[in-house]
Amino acid sequence: MELKVESRKKAEGEIRVPVDKSISHRSLILASIAEGESKIEGLLEAEDCLSTLQIMRDLGIEIKKEEKGSYRVYGKGLDGLEEADNVLDCGNSGTSMRLLAGLLSSQDFYSVLTGDHSLRARPMQRIIGPLSRMGAQIWARKGGLAPLSIRGQKLSGLKYKLPVASAQLKSSILLAALKSEAETVIIEPAVSRDHTERMLRGAGVDIEIKEDRIIINQAKARKLKPFNINVPGDISSAAFFIAAALTADEGELLIKNVGTNYTRSGFLEVVEAMGGDMQLLNEKEEGGEKTADILVKASELKGTVVGGDVIPRLIDEIPIISVMAAFAEGETVIKDAEELRVKETDRIAAVVKEFKKLGIEIEEYEDGMIIAGSAEVKGGINVKSYHDHRIAMSLAVLARSTEKGLTIEGSEIIKTSFPSFKDLLESL
Ligand code: S3P
Repeated sequence: MELKVESRKKAEGEIRVPVDKSISHRSLILASIAEGESKIEGLLEAEDCLSTLQIMRDLGIEIKKEEKGSYRVYGKGLDGLEEADNVLDCGNSGTSMRLLAGLLSSQDFYSVLTGDHSLRARPMQRIIGPLSRMGAQIWARKGGLAPLSIRGQKLSGLKYKLPVASAQLKSSILLAALKSEAETVIIEPAVSRDHTERMLRGAGVDIEIKEDRIIINQAKARKLKPFNINVPGDISSAAFFIAAALTADEGELLIKNVGTNYTRSGFLEVVEAMGGDMQLLNEKEEGGEKTADILVKASELKGTVVGGDVIPRLIDEIPIISVMAAFAEGETVIKDAEELRVKETDRIAAVVKEFKKLGIEIEEYEDGMIIAGSAEVKGGINVKSYHDHRIAMSLAVLARSTEKGLTIEGSEIIKTSFPSFKDLLESL
């Protein structure tokens, strides 16, 4: 599918972005293994989360939709899941595959996790390694690629230093540890999103955070309490609209109720460093997650350096930061971001290739890129999504600052995280 985005000078209005994808996945999974009825208010009804929802149903959990975004999950406890009679399809969703592989490793039955061609090419050895050390039996294709076959086992505890700061890997191990009677200790090289830890604690799990260590010990509890959750707006979706407002020539945009958890909000720090005119209003905390309304105005951006420990706190926002960098004054350096090479596509290669096509000065490095800034982009051509929702949406925002607009090929992939993106962008 092609998405045609016209050149636009102005971005203004008041909008809401879809609810948080990471929190939506985790609510479905944890509510399914809690003991009793949980209520999820504002579940993201995008393909990735619908894959997790369908898989939990395939594993015997009753999940009732009450109205748009509002669900009741009838959790059956840690021992209540049932073997599915078919393969479990994660679609394009790395979060579904990695988190569920951890959960299923301790379930006393056989499961097969698969996904689309992009997901079947993404590294799974990073979870297979530590889960196997806990005693899991997992088979994969050569190179640790999905489909993954899992024969659930009784697992032992683990002390493990993560080789990469990955919330999916950390969460996979935490979910595997839920049925182990021994302690598991995870050491993080840098802070990554902590929604799993927050939600597990809320469900009564004994989980402790000490500096860079996460210690989980289920010897006493061995059960999760059901919960009610109201999922906030996704900062990773808001980022596209913040960038659209900042790179416009005029206008003011208010984005309501965005999650601003510290482990997710590195993007806001970059906006500040680039001199973006942005204010956080109405700051609150609900269900253990911080939220705010974000007010942004068209700004003269300047180049910056993005690297080091902030990277895992803004990993999904780097393609859109690259777009802001293209129109900023001066150079922007993005480094320490080699993880981008194993996302839904190789996001460094994709950004570099499409920017070059548009005449934007950009240099590629193994762990990032340098973008020259002050670009004047004619546009009027076709660019590609590389089957990656965040590349497609970043290019759509970029198109607004071109002279002739752009046509984005393969834009249907946007619906994995943000089905209403096109309409919302046109509404600005
Ligand atoms: C996610 C973690 C990140 C992120 C992804 C969602 C999560 O992946 O890129 O979009 O919900 O845990 P990694 O853990 O691979 O960094």
